[in-house]
Amino acid sequence: MQIQALLRKRLADALETFSAEAAEFASMVRPTQDPKFGDFQANCAMPLGKQLGKPPREVAAEIVAKLDVEDLCEPPSIAGPGFINLRLREDWIAAIASQTLSDDRCGVQPTADRKRFLLDYSSPNVAKPMHVGHIRSTVIGDSLTRILRFLGHETITDNHLGDWGTQFGMVIYGYRNFLNADAFQREPVPELLRIYQIVNALIDYRKALGSVGEAKRRAEAMEADIKEARAAAEAAAPAEAKKAHKAVAALERRSRAAAEEVEALQTKIRAVEDDPELRTLAEQHPQIAVAVLEETAKLHAGDEENLRLWKQLLPYCMDEINRVYERLDIRFDHTLGESFYHAMLPGVVEQLRARGLAAESEGAVCVFLEGFDAPMIVQKQDGAYLYATTDLATLEYRRETFRPDEILYVVDFRQGDHFKKLFAAAAQLGIADAKLVHVSFGTVLDQAGRPLKTRSGTLAGLVGLLDDAVARAYEVVCSSEQAERLNPPLSEQEKREIADCVGIGAIKYADLAHHRTSDYKFSLEKMVSLDGNTAAYVQYAYARVQGILRGAETSEAEICARAEKKKDRVMVAGQPAERSLLLSLLQFEEVLQQVREEYAPNLLVDFLYDIAKKLAVMYEQCPVLKAEDAETRASRLAIVTLAARILRQGLQLLGIGVVPRM
Ligand code: ARG
Repeated sequence: MQIQALLRKRLADALETFSAEAAEFASMVRPTQDPKFGDFQANCAMPLGKQLGKPPREVAAEIVAKLDVEDLCEPPSIAGPGFINLRLREDWIAAIASQTLSDDRCGVQPTADRKRFLLDYSSPNVAKPMHVGHIRSTVIGDSLTRILRFLGHETITDNHLGDWGTQFGMVIYGYRNFLNADAFQREPVPELLRIYQIVNALIDYRKALGSVGEAKRRAEAMEADIKEARAAAEAAAPAEAKKAHKAVAALERRSRAAAEEVEALQTKIRAVEDDPELRTLAEQHPQIAVAVLEETAKLHAGDEENLRLWKQLLPYCMDEINRVYERLDIRFDHTLGESFYHAMLPGVVEQLRARGLAAESEGAVCVFLEGFDAPMIVQKQDGAYLYATTDLATLEYRRETFRPDEILYVVDFRQGDHFKKLFAAAAQLGIADAKLVHVSFGTVLDQAGRPLKTRSGTLAGLVGLLDDAVARAYEVVCSSEQAERLNPPLSEQEKREIADCVGIGAIKYADLAHHRTSDYKFSLEKMVSLDGNTAAYVQYAYARVQGILRGAETSEAEICARAEKKKDRVMVAGQPAERSLLLSLLQFEEVLQQVREEYAPNLLVDFLYDIAKKLAVMYEQCPVLKAEDAETRASRLAIVTLAARILRQGLQLLGIGVVPRM
């Protein structure tokens, strides 16, 4: 059901005799901000009045005379300069809601405009610990896939693993030089992580040593600039003072950033120098960065030994990643990593050159893109291919193999520039059959506002993070007042299931609740809370309905079957709280359409949170089990059942489960 679309259609019909742009004017139907003006408002009479040279109120009256909405609205009223206010009829809301209750798609029509989407998400770099950013990509990508599928679109999901880059050179180098064979025998995954971290620390150390001097000079120079600017601000004439102080503030900000950079470099240096073992290794491997690049290049060149190591070690790295997917209940249709495209890369460069789109510049092969300062490099001087080259090959392969209408890249906003260039290159190549979208997202921050690092500060331990969430959920939810009131009391098994559902749900929900482009602060405490905009709050709203149904000794199936039989007469929407809840529930399809248009699952989260809150209001104002008569009770049972079904379906579209009791 799409109420707004229906009203627009009716209004467009009425406007046909007034204007050639009827549909455009009709699109001016919007939900009202204030219920005292009804549910929807159309303000087309004002611009139309101008066009026709008539007073808008008069035009509004003429439109209303032609408007055929009797079956679903109260008689329209005209307010102010010519607003047309529409209030839906209670019996119409109740009838549509009753039909929705017996529809197993919760009233959501499969789209008539079916498209094939290819979704590229998660895509972690193997060998390197997966980080929270990859969880965010995974969760957003998974939810978009579920929603698109539910709307009736075709989806193909592809995990574009980074399984062929420098990080593998790092693991190979570490394996050759730092491996503890016993530890590897016993537990290969943590041992691989350990050697990766050693190599990483040593490379960072060398880089930091090389750049800290310059960074310090920059920071000091900035200090001097600030002193000068402060003095200038002191001495400035009143008219200039404001500008001068602003300049000081800007300099101070930049100086803080410069100081932070120095601090970060020093931390990397200390991490090695304060650790006797790492210190020795650093002395023994001064050329480690170059050596790692060489290992990577050998792998790419088909060196037998390195290829063998790659094949041997890759499954261990995948184990680690798969544990995270299992915990999050994530599956992909395809997992075509970067390595899959390796053999196609020379052809990509060849084709670009042949078509005159790429040219050599300072030894590298570049694609020069209109509107960009720097070109897109597709092959380095030493012959190595780049991330962009692989993405061009991937795009070509996907088009040929899957013929998608749209490709969604759910990737961190920091790669915005890469995707802008990739899409521009695709346009220059004449690729116009698929719409390409970078569904970018922001950073997960810690309480201090810095990018979140998980336990041990290494960005490792993602599984640990999920375990923490489940443990915390166990404490909060299973020992809450509400849980204590449950009869019979929760069994240990049930408690574990609830903790799992709420804990994992909390992480996903928090990732999805914020608009994807904004950063957000990660707080386990807030995430598993039973109050506020959390998974637990919405899951609890669902469980509470189940409790009521148990209290009434009925079931969802029974109530839905009754709705099917009685068609449109199982509920009334007489009370404001009932009416407002039902009206929201009927907007499910519209919300999903909006998520699809904006690739923004947070709109669905907002919707579910709103439903959960409206349910709470309804209980307060309209008792269900203690309703005044049997008919009212049956109607209310039907209303809360519909709410529960939509909550469950909505959460499922976010990849979040529900439990019958909590
Ligand atoms: N592996 C990359 C990273 O972790 C993300 C890949 C995204 N997908 C793509 N087609 N570039 O940063």
